[in-house]
Amino acid sequence: MMAFGLLSAGAVSAQTAPEAAATCVACHGEKGAAPIMPTYPVLAGQHASYLEHSLHGYKNGQRKNGIMAGIVAGLSDADMRALALYFAAQESPLYVPSLP
Ligand code: HEC
Repeated sequence: MMAFGLLSAGAVSAQTAPEAAATCVACHGEKGAAPIMPTYPVLAGQHASYLEHSLHGYKNGQRKNGIMAGIVAGLSDADMRALALYFAAQESPLYVPSLP
């Protein structure tokens, strides 16, 4: 976590999994695309800005969830940005509904 915090977000390739992502996949599934429970959200392919905003929300208390609050407690702003960029860049099982 320490070494990871030293990387600037710009230097992190979105395809390279940040070290902290190893924790996330235990619940959100491989590459954030296959959550282990239906109530756990898919992260893969979500907008990076949305993912980053959500992580900040858990950290500052605007978004309340006991599980995620514990997860983000140890993450820096740079960690959260890198995680958001990484998961946003992964292939998603979600689809965009089309109009009839
Ligand atoms: C122990 C299981 C668990 C772990 C580990 C975990 N999450 Fe989560 N995550 C959840 C659950 C459950 C929710 C839904 C919480 C809610 O309803 O707000 C969630 C929600 C989220 C959301 C909001 C997604 C959305 O669509 O609104 C993001 C972003 C997220 N997690 C990122 C992460 C990241 C990044 C990590 C690793 C650093 C991580 N999570 C680790 C269980 C987990």
